[in-house]
Amino acid sequence: MSSPPMLLRLGRRAAPSLIGRCRSAGTDALFGVRPAVLRRFIVDTSYSAHFMDFKGSSIPSSMKKLVVTKLSQDFREAVSVRTVAVPTPGDAELLVRNRFVGINASDINYSAGRYDPSVKPPFDAGFEGIGEVVGLGLSASSRYTVGDVVAYFGSGGAFAEYTVVPAKESVPVPSVKPEFLTLLVSGTTAYIAMKRLGNLAKGETVLVTAAAGGTGQFAVQFAKQAGCHVIGTCSSDEKAGFLKSIGCDRPINYSTEDLAKTLRKEYPQGIDVVYESVGGSVLELAVNSLANKGRLIVIGFISGYKTAAGITPFNGGMLPVKLLQKSASMRGFFLPHFIEDYKEALRSMMQMFAKGELVCEVDCGDMAQEGRFVGLESVFRAVDYMYAGRNLGKVVVDVAPPTVGDSKL
Ligand SMILES: NC(=O)c1ccc[n+]([C@@H]2O[C@H](COP(=O)([O-])OP(=O)(O)OC[C@H]3O[C@@H](n4cnc5c(N)ncnc54)[C@H](OP(=O)(O)O)[C@@H]3O)[C@@H](O)[C@H]2O)c1
Repeated sequence: MSSPPMLLRLGRRAAPSLIGRCRSAGTDALFGVRPAVLRRFIVDTSYSAHFMDFKGSSIPSSMKKLVVTKLSQDFREAVSVRTVAVPTPGDAELLVRNRFVGINASDINYSAGRYDPSVKPPFDAGFEGIGEVVGLGLSASSRYTVGDVVAYFGSGGAFAEYTVVPAKESVPVPSVKPEFLTLLVSGTTAYIAMKRLGNLAKGETVLVTAAAGGTGQFAVQFAKQAGCHVIGTCSSDEKAGFLKSIGCDRPINYSTEDLAKTLRKEYPQGIDVVYESVGGSVLELAVNSLANKGRLIVIGFISGYKTAAGITPFNGGMLPVKLLQKSASMRGFFLPHFIEDYKEALRSMMQMFAKGELVCEVDCGDMAQEGRFVGLESVFRAVDYMYAGRNLGKVVVDVAPPTVGDSKL
């Protein structure tokens, strides 16, 4: 079976090293700003193993989390809601009360056991979250304190009301904005892939598939920033309008326009760079549309994730000929293989966002049929929503909206 993308086969502990390594190099400087919350420093006079802000945070004794109880690419079949005790952080760990968690296309690859075939259910689901530190271990308290806001990615346990996260794998962020969640995986993937594999030059033509989604929106913006002509595929006029608003020169709503015909007619010279996330027939079309010296970046193949094989068939018999005849190339991109670029990517995007130079579109399901994704159980709806192609921007679930009088959130 071919490899599903994003974090595949690295094991459940592999991905966090991305942030871990960044953090060890000094993430206080990463975002340039320390959290704007009232800091309650802890003076260790007790020599206890950990600190829990039970009073200030009202930490309950139990919580809900989503657990993969059966391997399946059908998320609803694979995952169950469990009520468990709120965990206690170890010495170098933080207990984070999750405010927002991010949905990724690969959540169903994970629940299907495609990441680490050696891991057997039950195991925790969810890649990324953002929230407030409500408890921490002794050594973690040298860098964090109760009330800090952190984002984290990769621990495989984000779909929970509270998550224990290694301190070195957390990133301090200025506030609990869902926009920060868009950058951890989706944004960095586009930034690094475009920079490292795209080799974009001014005036080149770039095609982004699933362009209005979590990672596609960033690929569009970075290609535009590089002075390229950007084409983006999407499935609705609303998404096409959004793509226009972020600088996409030629949004193509493939549900009303024939993608192959449009590319042939409007881009007879071919496409210089493709950021490809869909796979199957779209990938074949992208290969056939490459210009001389074109570069095709395989980001994912979402059209196959819901199948048992995890990938839609790709007719690649003539691929060597097609690449040779155009001196073209096709390369895979897998974020954890670009650890050395991660810190710079995140810092740069945070700065762009702070200056208003980067749109980080979030979709919390406000326009979804059953309304906004609020509460942990709505993760199921949010996954369905993404796989129905409804999302515009990064899909985010509001796990615990603030209650009246909560000044921090
Ligand atoms: N390589 C890496 O390291 C890495 C990291 C992050 C993400 N990814 C990949 O990037 C891609 C996008 O992931 P994401 O989390 O950002 O999701 P997303 O783009 O926010 O959402 C998925 C979008 O894909 C489009 N799509 C096209 N064909 C589809 C199909 N058959 N079924 C469902 N959706 C389809 C839909 O948009 P339209 O309806 O508008 O087409 C849908 O909104 C995935 O392939 C994912 O695996 C890879």
